[in-house]
Amino acid sequence: MADEVVAKGDQAGRLIIEAEEGEATIWSRRDFFSLAGWAGILAALGVGSLAFARFMFPRVLFEPSPIFKAGLPEEYPVGTVSERWKQEQRVWIVHDPDGFYALLAICTHLGCTPNWLNAENKFKCPCHGSGFRRTGTNFEGPAPRPLERIKIALADDGQLLIDKSVQFRYERGEWTKPGAFLKLKV
Ligand code: FES
Repeated sequence: MADEVVAKGDQAGRLIIEAEEGEATIWSRRDFFSLAGWAGILAALGVGSLAFARFMFPRVLFEPSPIFKAGLPEEYPVGTVSERWKQEQRVWIVHDPDGFYALLAICTHLGCTPNWLNAENKFKCPCHGSGFRRTGTNFEGPAPRPLERIKIALADDGQLLIDKSVQFRYERGEWTKPGAFLKLKV
């Protein structure tokens, strides 16, 4: 069994540490405070080392790639708004008679995910009622601007290639830029 250790002071103000077996170690105040000082320094060094290690190996968040292949153009019937990628990527793919465009399924009011209402030919946000035409332009509710289009192209293997990192804003005249629309008759 471990010895019980008792610390007490003597009349001269020295610190006496006694083990139960009767052995006694007499420490002066200076020894005691010197030891406490070293303990403090070691603790500070430990904390500093941990902070340094954290600095050298920062936590890295691995975000999913903003680029994805969305299948062959033939998989999207002409005249439809596809919700195939809405859950996974927050993207709609619209196939009009002249080609394709991709819309970000993020409401420009406060970021909710709108729904495509096929019968009403519009996107409707469930949060505060903003409405967007199938082109993406806003026409009702508090949304201050149209939905954003994102880059759409054809990959080497013939699939639609979507890049969410490249966005096109209507109010900046960007919907006519290359990549905002994929001219393709299917
Ligand atoms: Fe869509 Fe408010 S977040 S209307």
